Amino acid sequence: MASRSSAPVSLATFNGKRHEPPEPGPGEVLVRVAATTFNPSEAGLRRGLLRSIVPVVLPYTMGLDVAGTLAQGDRVIGRLDGGAAADFAVAPANVLVPVPDGVPLEDAAALPIAGLTAWQAVFEHAAVAEGQRVLVNGAGAIGRYAIQLARHAGAHVVAATSARGAAAAHGAGADRVIIGWEEIEPVDAYIHLVPADPVHTGRIRPGGVLVSATTPADRLPVGPFRGVHFIVRNDTADLAALLALVADGTVRIDIAGRRPLTDLDAVHAEADAGKLTGKTLLLP
Ligand SMILES: NC(=O)c1ccc[n+]([C@@H]2O[C@H](COP(=O)([O-])OP(=O)(O)OC[C@H]3O[C@@H](n4cnc5c(N)ncnc54)[C@H](OP(=O)(O)O)[C@@H]3O)[C@@H](O)[C@H]2O)c1
Repeated sequence: MASRSSAPVSLATFNGKRHEPPEPGPGEVLVRVAATTFNPSEAGLRRGLLRSIVPVVLPYTMGLDVAGTLAQGDRVIGRLDGGAAADFAVAPANVLVPVPDGVPLEDAAALPIAGLTAWQAVFEHAAVAEGQRVLVNGAGAIGRYAIQLARHAGAHVVAATSARGAAAAHGAGADRVIIGWEEIEPVDAYIHLVPADPVHTGRIRPGGVLVSATTPADRLPVGPFRGVHFIVRNDTADLAALLALVADGTVRIDIAGRRPLTDLDAVHAEADAGKLTGKTLLLP
């Protein structure tokens, strides 16, 4: 990882306060956190529902997405198993990816989970190709990347959203935005990114694919198409490729809100009440 010219950070006096930063173990590094985010799955994590996906040992510090700087000034992002909702986080060195010059570090925290989920939905599970027709259901944090990435792959993208998500879907470059499931031509791929089971799957052409980030495989509708449920994989090559598209202006990072980290409990409460959509950054 290239080292940058900025001076080493004085960890003990960061933010004008005295801190005892956590101690990295073998293979780990200390990250001064610039931002973490809220992910809807963290509401489930808080309730103890994600034990099989994210290992939790109490006491546990929230924060799965991290953007920050290493001691020598390198700017990095990554997906952690927690701990990023803090001034400092300890991270396995091998999950961190350098952030290219020109990409705002704070904003880049919005990429690991939502961006990787969109990337793997579009390129891996739906294998979207040029000239295809793709339906993206949901213009939240993941949907906004999925629309951009499917367009980048050369697909015609229809976004199915609520009235609340329509502006974001247009902003992400959807060729068409439908609210209330008006009629559309059959699609090759239906990318399902909302926390309710897929509807109107008859719009998938025979031999097409339904890719869901939310509905388990045994609950997916059956039809003359392939049905896939997936859990995002922490993949630094995918994340670096996504960052390169952000750096060259192909993909825009969409930030729905910026909040101080001290608002973390309020942000969870707003999410529980259905008031949050899109990516909220949390800033220490
Ligand atoms: N499989 C995985 O590995 C994986 C990884 C990350 C996230 N996820 C899941 O993927 C989903 C989307 O994540 P995100 O970060 O994009 O969330 P988000 O920004 O909160 O977006 C949620 C989307 O779902 C829509 N929505 C919310 N409640 C709904 C309901 N009851 N019925 C229909 N649509 C509803 C929202 O529409 P409006 O805003 O228009 O209302 C929005 O488009 C979440 O459920 C999350 O837990 C899965």
